[in-house]
Amino acid sequence: MFRTTNNITVGLALIALLTATAVYARNENTNPLTGHVGVDANDESTESINLRSGPGNPVLGRDKSQLCQGCHGEFGNSTEPLIPKLAGQYGKYISKELRNYQSGVRTHQIMNAMAGTISDDDLADISAYFASRPKMKGSGSSSNELGKTLFTKGDINRKMIACINCHGVNGKGLTPKTSMFPVLGGQQKEYLRKQLKNFRDSDRTNSPNGIMNKVTSLLTDAEIEAIADYLSEL
Ligand code: HEC
Ligand code: HEC
Repeated sequence: MFRTTNNITVGLALIALLTATAVYARNENTNPLTGHVGVDANDESTESINLRSGPGNPVLGRDKSQLCQGCHGEFGNSTEPLIPKLAGQYGKYISKELRNYQSGVRTHQIMNAMAGTISDDDLADISAYFASRPKMKGSGSSSNELGKTLFTKGDINRKMIACINCHGVNGKGLTPKTSMFPVLGGQQKEYLRKQLKNFRDSDRTNSPNGIMNKVTSLLTDAEIEAIADYLSEL
């Protein structure tokens, strides 16, 4: 009798241990928001993801962003050339842009209307949902040498400061908490090209102190093309 009880106890303990291990393994490889395993898993630390996401609640944000997902993708990876990816973008940057669309400081017919539908309560949650996703990415490597040189070195002769100083290595951002400079690596090429032209031609003037208008003022169309090509592949 004693022996049997003991065996059951050991058996239960073993099952508990195996279950715990299975749950642990599952958490490691599974995105907590989607339950998706493998390629879609976020390989960054929870701390980094939280810092990048900002103050909102990503779980609530997922439901609140259904409308947005229709264009920006269920997980923020838009497949439309002129619709930006939001996956892994900084939460505070997303919120700032939405505020700018709401006030009309940044103009785009669709997004001015869309941003108008977001209440103050929902803004941070929606931003946090897209920010908490694994960072956007392209094919993973880029062979555009001109784009790479301009991005990583700038051009001393024209006093052009290198983009990498603000947008980080491979355009993936500087640090998880430096939210002012958006992620660019892996973004849609057409979208990048359009934004760079908009900045250069002063059709977009919402960057702090007009910094992006200054940075792009000397870029030729061919250079913008090269940079957009380079960044979108990363
Ligand atoms: C009908 C399609 C559509 C819908 C729906 C939509 N967007 Fe957009 N969104 C766009 C397009 C197109 C752009 C690019 C606008 C531009 O060029 O300024 C954009 C741009 C943005 C940007 C700027 C990104 C950046 O990198 O600067 C943010 C943030 C954004 N959308 C968030 C949202 C949110 C949040 C919602 C839901 C409330 C939403 N969008 C709904 C099409 C859409
Ligand atoms: C001194 C810092 C700084 C440098 C250098 C810089 N940027 Fe930026 N960039 C910014 C900031 C800040 C923003 C965010 C603008 C805003 O608040 O809307 C930005 C925004 C952008 C955007 C818009 C992203 C989006 O999702 O809409 C693109 C594209 C971009 N930068 C490309 C570049 C490229 C290419 C270079 C180099 C030629 C460059 N930047 C150099 C600070 C910088």
